[in-house]
Amino acid sequence: MSFEPSTADRFSFGLWTVGWRAVDPFGEATRPPLDPAEAVHRLAELGAWGVTFHDDDLIPFGADDTERERRIARFREALDATGMVVPMATTNLFTHPVFKGGALTSNDRDIRRFALRKVMRNMDLAAELGARTYVLWGGREGSETDAGIDVRAALDRYAEGIDTLAQYTLDQGYDLRLALEPKPNEPRGDILLPTIGHALAFISRLQHHERVGVNPEVGHEQMAGLNYVHGIGQALWSGKLFHLDLNGQRGPRYDQDLVFGHGDLLSAFFTVDLLEHGGYDGSRHFDYKPLRTEDADGVWASAAANMRSYLILRERARAFRADPEVREALSAARVGELSVPTLDPGETPAQLAADKTAFEDFDPEAAAERGGGFVRLSQLALDHLTGARAQ
Ligand code: GCO
Ligand code: MN
Ligand code: MN
Repeated sequence: MSFEPSTADRFSFGLWTVGWRAVDPFGEATRPPLDPAEAVHRLAELGAWGVTFHDDDLIPFGADDTERERRIARFREALDATGMVVPMATTNLFTHPVFKGGALTSNDRDIRRFALRKVMRNMDLAAELGARTYVLWGGREGSETDAGIDVRAALDRYAEGIDTLAQYTLDQGYDLRLALEPKPNEPRGDILLPTIGHALAFISRLQHHERVGVNPEVGHEQMAGLNYVHGIGQALWSGKLFHLDLNGQRGPRYDQDLVFGHGDLLSAFFTVDLLEHGGYDGSRHFDYKPLRTEDADGVWASAAANMRSYLILRERARAFRADPEVREALSAARVGELSVPTLDPGETPAQLAADKTAFEDFDPEAAAERGGGFVRLSQLALDHLTGARAQ
């Protein structure tokens, strides 16, 4: 197995990932700036298919029109030269101090209007570059103190903002869906829409709910102590997994943005298994940060590592699914039986209430004696993941 990525794998990277200069709250940059055009060329050489960006990754905040056009032209040249696509774009609504108290949910109405215009402007560019997904990560939407935020009003304004942006894409005729990215905290003490579940519930209340889905990130769910596989499972079930951010995290702590697979490896295995066998056909997008210790070579090694991790796990997940012993163990654990509806076709609650086999004649003691068989399955997964059962 060579695990060489190809464009058919649909691997994409944010410009801000390989371009991260490693400024953290305790230290200054450890790496020089990276030219976006170089990022496109290097990622293409490594086998990536697409590149994504925040407006400010490409065009510095406040750049004049000439500078803006020059930067966009240079980026386009790199895309044309490499064949790289832009499947997604997003907005930086968190770096500039104007957003310190929020963007779409700032208490200041003029700041909310400015934030909407900033998103709309980059949606124009995203559509021009052929993007189909527009991500909104509300990193500054939230608070440190419950005294300073009216959560119900903030959600009203959040919904108004997202609906306005969805309406804008419709009015402009853009083939662009919106994807909300949940995160529990960091940089705010508490961020609105902290988990996939909160985001899905919020979306169901939107006027343009059909145009809005989620962009769940591995590490963000794990920061909240939640199961990423279950989270994206529910997003898929809801028809809302529009995009995703793959990376690594080691439990509830600061947002590590590690290379995919370098955090909870078993969870990464089941994530790939679900994506490959659960009907997801979107980008495999990496949102990670090369470790602060790394030089330029380390940056490119880390970009390659994300894709390699995914391809290894994909191959292992395939072997797991193809293994006759796994099939037998799945059947012994009655995993397939869960797909059989609990009621017969057309059966009514009254018919169920009259069915003596379901209750009066049912033997709960005997049923409780059946073993689950889940440990065996779990170990078979680990055997495949580690290569102990090579196919
Ligand atoms: C994070 C976030 C961000 C967003 C990105 C898209 O790690 O806190 O993932 O990286 O994904 O800014 O808007
Ligand atoms: Mn993150
Ligand atoms: Mn992300």
